[in-house]
Amino acid sequence: MTRGSVETSLAELAARVRRRAQEKSGRFVLGIAGPPGAGKSTLARGVRDELNIAAGYPIAEVAPMDGFHLSTAQLRAAGDLARKGEPDTFDAAGYAALLRRVRETPLAEPVPWPTYSRELHEPVSGGVVFDRQTIIVTEGNYLLLDDPAHPDWAAVRPLLDETWYLDVPRPIIEKRLIRRHMRGGRTLEAAKLKVAESDLLNARLVEHTRPGADLTLRKYGRAYRIA
Ligand SMILES: Nc1ncnc2c1ncn2[C@@H]1O[C@H](COP(=O)(O)OP(=O)(O)OP(=O)(O)O)[C@@H](O)[C@H]1O
Ligand SMILES: [Mg+2]
Repeated sequence: MTRGSVETSLAELAARVRRRAQEKSGRFVLGIAGPPGAGKSTLARGVRDELNIAAGYPIAEVAPMDGFHLSTAQLRAAGDLARKGEPDTFDAAGYAALLRRVRETPLAEPVPWPTYSRELHEPVSGGVVFDRQTIIVTEGNYLLLDDPAHPDWAAVRPLLDETWYLDVPRPIIEKRLIRRHMRGGRTLEAAKLKVAESDLLNARLVEHTRPGADLTLRKYGRAYRIA
């Protein structure tokens, strides 16, 4: 183990969230940030499932930032389709507004949340609905972005009760993203180009936000390490 780091399981991470959520009245929002392809969606689903299994009923659900991708039609009309994935190709203000709404809405009053379809390459409105869940696990690249060039993102951080940054070495991210783009129909060359010219630039922007997180996590076998 790296000196100064602590190994922890998904169940232990979920227990930490549950403890912290119980200390607070109202809904608790966990934010998971990290570069593209880091495994944020996988970690968020894992934490949600552990929380729900331990509670014996659905206390947690995932609220993906990816649901706020602008539509392909909107991006194409603005000439921004090739830049999809950059901070200003999301509705950041809409994301912050819905996070605030879901935090403030009484339990059992339904709040629909958009998800993102990797098959359709489009957001899906009302992909998930919050009603009785008391823990919201929101995840995405730009949760901790505090950059004057993209001011709308700064509204997100104050709405998060706890934040984790999922850190993964660049070469691993690169390989995962190339594989994913190829599964999406790109040739190897096109996938490499997309990663070099877009994903890795976004990853660099996200890497600068790491000090803003409460915890930095790294995957270690089946467990995680708290850096
Ligand atoms: N711990 C892991 N070990 C190995 N592969 C993983 C791990 N976590 C995720 N992956 C794989 O890496 C890819 C990216 O994972 P995931 O979709 O969770 O990342 P992400 O951070 O949500 O990406 P994006 O920013 O593009 O939404 C997926 O193919 C997933 O199966
Ligand atoms: Mg994801």
